[in-house]
Amino acid sequence: MAIRNIIKYPEDEETLRKVSKPVTVFDDRLVSLLEDLKDTMHHAKGAGLSAVQVGVLKRVCVVNTGKRHLEFINPVIVKQCGKNKIKEEGCLSIPNVWEEVIRPNKVDVKFQDRFGNCCQETFIGYEAKAICHECDHLDGILFIDRVKNKK
Ligand code: NI
Repeated sequence: MAIRNIIKYPEDEETLRKVSKPVTVFDDRLVSLLEDLKDTMHHAKGAGLSAVQVGVLKRVCVVNTGKRHLEFINPVIVKQCGKNKIKEEGCLSIPNVWEEVIRPNKVDVKFQDRFGNCCQETFIGYEAKAICHECDHLDGILFIDRVKNKK
């Protein structure tokens, strides 16, 4: 377990804009990555972190909104509905910026766990918002892209 360096916008934008690759091998390196993401997220007091944010272009992210720790490998949002009431959003790669982003309130997510098992689960509220934010990272999308009235 280790705390990794979180890359930042705008200096590391080139990497943050890359599309991450699907995970096909579920091995000890993946477990280490998941553990490091967890430690790094907690250390930085974030609600979520994607592998790309530590410079690893794999479709892996973690989310912790205070209630429980979630891990997603190759996540796909298969269904979404509603509108989230939580307005302010931030990102560990974009320090000190908080903006209103409209996100769904409920998402169905297909993903794999650290062992490669296929899962599908429904998430609501803050968790749904955080998962949408992290899934965007895997496609090189930053939350500032989704702010309606860009300053
Ligand atoms: Ni982020």
